[in-house]
Amino acid sequence: MRKDFPNDFLWGASTSAYQVEGAAYEDGKKASQQDIINKDSFEKFGFATAEVASDQYHHYKEDIALMKEMGFRTYRFSIAWSRVFPEGSGEVNEQGIQYYRDLVRELKKNDIEPIVTIYHYDLPWALVERYGGWLDRRILKDFEHYATYIIHEFKDQVKYWTTINEQSIIVQYWTQKCFIPEDYLSKNQMRYQINHYMNLCHAIACKLVHAMVPGGMAGSAIGYSSIYPLSSRPEDVMAAQNAQALRNDYYTDIYFKGTYNKAAEIYLKEHGLAPVIENGDMELIAEGTSDFLALNYYASECAKYCPEDSGKEIRWSGVNRSGKKGDISGFETHPGFYEMCKNPGLDTTDWDWAIDPIGMEYLLRDLYNRYGKPLMITENGLGAYDTLTEDGKIHDDYRISYLREHIKAVKRAMDYGVEMIAYCPWSAVDLLSTSNGMKKRYGFIYIDRTDDDPKECKRIRKDSFYWYKKVIESNGKDLDQTI
Ligand code: BG6
Repeated sequence: MRKDFPNDFLWGASTSAYQVEGAAYEDGKKASQQDIINKDSFEKFGFATAEVASDQYHHYKEDIALMKEMGFRTYRFSIAWSRVFPEGSGEVNEQGIQYYRDLVRELKKNDIEPIVTIYHYDLPWALVERYGGWLDRRILKDFEHYATYIIHEFKDQVKYWTTINEQSIIVQYWTQKCFIPEDYLSKNQMRYQINHYMNLCHAIACKLVHAMVPGGMAGSAIGYSSIYPLSSRPEDVMAAQNAQALRNDYYTDIYFKGTYNKAAEIYLKEHGLAPVIENGDMELIAEGTSDFLALNYYASECAKYCPEDSGKEIRWSGVNRSGKKGDISGFETHPGFYEMCKNPGLDTTDWDWAIDPIGMEYLLRDLYNRYGKPLMITENGLGAYDTLTEDGKIHDDYRISYLREHIKAVKRAMDYGVEMIAYCPWSAVDLLSTSNGMKKRYGFIYIDRTDDDPKECKRIRKDSFYWYKKVIESNGKDLDQTI
């Protein structure tokens, strides 16, 4: 049955703390691991540091006013653990928590529902120094301390909590998302060990929300791509199923069934990559299952057969640092299981991400069929070079067309019964990309800065800003307007 978007559908957009806030060392905040990682990327690749980012810390009222102008009904942001607990644990930093109180109050005043992410890659550096951060099981206690504090603090204002951002992507790109010391770089089992600790933290956070927040809902925000077989050859179809097990179901089965996906678990054990699981861990995971799943979807993926004796082995995804199509450094390859590859049928962004709205419809239908829980989009967007014209405009028709087709895909999935809570593309304002600095932009609002010069971080409305405003005004009906 074809219906309109429901009246309470949450239209909005997303950001994360270290990518947007700046004020990295202000008002008592101390370094997070992202302050250190991004300083290094600045030195190596010339990408901006997280020190100023989009300076939302000083511009949050202006940003919320612009969100209100677009008609946002929600804003998904994350809390910087190192702003609230600069040492990772112990005493709260009053000025740090006050910033989030003010932010939430301002959102509420403007009828914008906060969706809060508890953790988005930015572990306090103090915990890395103390015991290696996510490498050590002691993280569970400190995470619980932090999560208990913030959930209690906002229990009456925040209904939707996303726990840990993109565990699947952290496993793939662990040095970008976590600080990993040199002598750990070849210890790939640790990737899955970290993921196991994150599963436990996720469960802890879900339980806290259920215990403390009246009507509260908790779920993970996962980086998730639909995976197609390169061809209809049975070997390719099987390879796509293997990739689906290891790259997707390994995470979502934990969130909803409280168990590790069998095929993925067996594969990891056979290759010495499986996490060590202590007594009681799986019970805790099973107690902290999710109420919804938040999805970060940018691109679909493609997999093909890879014979056991292929001689290839690249266990982790490649990256494109240059922003020139085709510069991707490689495709994840597991001999005898699967090999990821380029989908010849799809165009890509300048950073080699396949543009595929149908991929989103596909995964929404598939996930809802399998788990039957409501879904929300917490990231979806086009990373692109934007040009500021001499008369101060940004004509980002490419972004409008990307978003339009993806909103249509959400709607088609809903027409076939998928329960959707929100659509929050990436990103509300331009921000620091996790892999490519400030040049790769995603926002509705342009931030006037470059990688090496933060300037004043002036806010400028892009064409997509005006387009999205009308989309929201029409509750998703008016998608085809020209700007
Ligand atoms: C997601 C992250 O992986 O993708 C965001 O949750 C990130 O933090 C976004 O910014 C886009 O990736 P990138 O590397 O282009 O910033």
